[in-house]
Parts: sequence; C-alpha cells; structure tokens
Amino acid sequence: MRRIHAHGKAILFGEHAVVYGHPALALGIEDAVVARAVRPTAGRLGISVPGWGLDADQDSPGTVGEALRRLAALLPGDAGCEVEAEASIPMGAGLGSSAALAVLMVRAVAEARGAALDDDRVRAAANELEKVFHGNPSGLDGTVATFGGLCLFRKAPWDGDAPSGVPLRLLAPNVLRVAWPAPPLVIGHSGVRRSTASMVARVGRLREADPTRVDGLFATMGTCLWKGLDALGRGDHAGLGKAMNACQEALAALSLSCPEIDRMMDLALAAGALGAKLTGGGGGGCVLALAPGREQDVLEAFRRGGFDAFLVGVHGPTVEGKG
Ligand code: PMV
Repeated sequence: MRRIHAHGKAILFGEHAVVYGHPALALGIEDAVVARAVRPTAGRLGISVPGWGLDADQDSPGTVGEALRRLAALLPGDAGCEVEAEASIPMGAGLGSSAALAVLMVRAVAEARGAALDDDRVRAAANELEKVFHGNPSGLDGTVATFGGLCLFRKAPWDGDAPSGVPLRLLAPNVLRVAWPAPPLVIGHSGVRRSTASMVARVGRLREADPTRVDGLFATMGTCLWKGLDALGRGDHAGLGKAMNACQEALAALSLSCPEIDRMMDLALAAGALGAKLTGGGGGGCVLALAPGREQDVLEAFRRGGFDAFLVGVHGPTVEGKG
C-alpha cells in the first residue's frame, strides 16, 4: 500500500485574521494522521481513528458521515474503501485534526478509485470537506494538512507582493513554502474543547460592532507575522518570541483567550519560554511555546500544571508522543 498520510498544523501567526484576507504563517505537524489499513469495499466509505474514538461511515449521523457522503460524490469513480488510521495529535484542539482527517480521506479514496490527484486538487477537495466541519474555513488548515512544512498562506494569490528577503517557493497560487527551519515548539493542550466555527462567529460579531478596532488588531497581528518571520530568518529566537507574545495580546483583545490559556502562558514564560501564544480558533485548544534549550522545562511546567504537552519539530516528526 502506498503511504497515505496528512499533516496537522500549528498556526504561528494570523489565525482569525486569515479569514478576512490577511496572511498567516503555519507549520505542519508531520504525519499527524497516517493510514494503517485501507480495505476496499463495494462503494461505501468509512473511517476509523481509534485514538480519537472515531468510527464512522457515510451512513453515520454527524459531520464525519456528512463529509464522507460529500467525498463520495466529489471524486470521480464509485469504488469505496474503509480506512483505519492512527493519529498523533489530539482532536478538536486547534491543531487541524479535521483538515488532516479530510486530506487523509481524500488521498485514500483517490487511491481506491485510481484517480491521480496532485496536491493542489487534494487540498481543494479537502477544503470542501472542511466546509462540512467549519462552515466557512479560510482554507489554511486544508493547505497545511496537504503540504506540511512552513507555509505562508492567504486567501488571495500572491501576486508580486510576496515578501522579499525570504527564501520562498510557490506551492500553489496562494501558498508559499518558507525554506527556513523553525525551532522546535512545545505544544500544551488546555483540555478545553471549543468549536472553531463559534470562535470565528464571535470575532465576526466583534468586527460588526467595531470594525475599526478589530481591523486594527488584525493589522497588529500582520505586523507580528512579518516581524516574527524576519526574526526567524535571522535566527533571532528572542525576536520571534516577542512577536508571538505580541500576537497573543492581540488575540486576547479579541476575546479569544480563556483562563486556562492565560495560565499556560504564565507557566511557559516562567519556565523559560521566550514567547507563547494560543494557536487556532482559541477559547481553549492549544498553546505554542518557543523555548529553545528549555523545552523540557516548559513541557514539565505544563504537565505539573495539569496540561497535556508534547514537542514538535517544524516539519519533523513528533519528538515526544502526546502527553
Ligand atoms: O481551530 P482550528 O485549528 O480549526 O484553526 C482555525 C483557524 C481560523 O483562522 C480561526 C479559522 C480559519 O478558517 O482559518
């Protein structure tokens, strides 16, 4: 069997702002979901991820069943398959689990049906499935789940206005691969589950009430991204950490933090992190901490505080399993 896999993602800068056309910088968590077995069926599509307690087929109620029905109609052919997969990221924690699931299913069904899809078509199909999970996603999650690595993404194509001085490769019209390696990050899970769609809706309401303030915060987040990218290129970890902290402040001003995330920020910084921020939809989910050389201290601080934590390389494998 050809290896079928999909990446998770950690958004370094630009969550929520990306929904309104601003750029985002995200890194892939390699092999977040990997197919262990793909069994052919007469036509039915099914997926099980035991680590997530997920076992669904296209007749199942709920969003996974609906996504499978949509996928059955989306790709050419009618062969089916049942996929059994292993996950190394938690579900519903802002690490792109649903997009990884979507990419995995698209790749598995394309294989079962003998449809040759390049990565751009894989992500387009996965983004259709993401609409079932998230309503109106920016497309960032499906993009990173497909391509992995460090991706500079926005909704509109990069058109002569890509940043200069950064080694970039165009992966798709609106996706640039940044060739710089990023340092390992500690990821802590607040344990609070939240729906991305409801957090996106919350920001939408804030923006309706006060567009000037919210657009100003999005602009601040954009400044953090460019400063962070520049610091990354210079190997300036302190500068990158500072940009992450500033981005977290803007996210908190959008009411996207929560007491658990605030506590994790304190734990990370007290344990030697140079910067930390929530990642993804917010309101819960995960915190990213940048702590070069102090990763173990931050991991332990999170765990002592009662939070699951693990370490990821930028697009290398999970260094240590889910805590
Ligand atoms: O919570 P996640 O991992 O699904 O990330 C959501 C990212 C947002 O920018 C908030 C929404 C989007 O569609 O990009």
